[in-house]
Amino acid sequence: MAAGASNVSRRSGSGMQRVTEPELMDDPSQAEAYAAADFAEAHSRIVEGFAETFPGVDVTGNVLDLGCGPGDISFRFAARFPGCVVIGVDGSAAMIELARQRQARETALGDRVRFIEGRIPGASIPAMQFSAIISNSLLHHLHRPSVLWETIAAYAFSGTRIYVADLCRPQTTAVARRMVDTYAAGEPDILRRDFYHSLCAAFEPREVEVQLEAAGLAGLAVAVISDRHLVVHGCKL
Ligand SMILES: C[S@@+](CC[C@H](N)C(=O)[O-])C[C@H]1O[C@@H](n2cnc3c(N)ncnc32)[C@H](O)[C@@H]1O
Repeated sequence: MAAGASNVSRRSGSGMQRVTEPELMDDPSQAEAYAAADFAEAHSRIVEGFAETFPGVDVTGNVLDLGCGPGDISFRFAARFPGCVVIGVDGSAAMIELARQRQARETALGDRVRFIEGRIPGASIPAMQFSAIISNSLLHHLHRPSVLWETIAAYAFSGTRIYVADLCRPQTTAVARRMVDTYAAGEPDILRRDFYHSLCAAFEPREVEVQLEAAGLAGLAVAVISDRHLVVHGCKL
């Protein structure tokens, strides 16, 4: 989406204002470009980040992956923790279709990875006990970020491990452009465009802390883990 004035949110600090992007990635060509991109290293790091954050934990039971997209992290998580079932939820029909196509190929995982098409809030997520709730790169898509934290608060029980990774908004658009050139050099234009818009739509760590407080999740920690990434982690009390 073009960075129009109507979707600029209130300035929160000395850096650039947040500019929202469309919530769902429901354009089939956008979803296909995303699914075809090589996120192997980044997504393995998410799964290993979870394992390092909760050392010694062998995740069993049900895991909820919010905003799962084409499911790459859902599949990697299920492969890393063979005792769990991962339920991926995404509001984009195009993304869920790609996830299900891959599911048909990933026979080794059996039915340990399942997908639900549904937009949060309101998605038909089964009322089950989730031992972990994970999410990558959903938060910055949400026009109302409280939607993510309220969903987590609703589906987590005491002891549920929570691991949410996302981008951090850079201080200026010039920094955002440099990041696109540095980290997405050689990627298709559609991915470079989406990356730039995602950086501009992301939150600053302090904004995320305020969101967590408002949702009653202040016990979760916000950690900045690179020049462009943050992670929210912890257990629901
Ligand atoms: C950048 S993709 C990340 C996909 C995946 N988590 C990954 O890391 O590869 C963000 C996903 O969130 C989905 N999404 C955005 N807003 C949503 C909402 N309100 N409910 C459900 N899914 C949503 C989009 O459709 C998109 O597939």
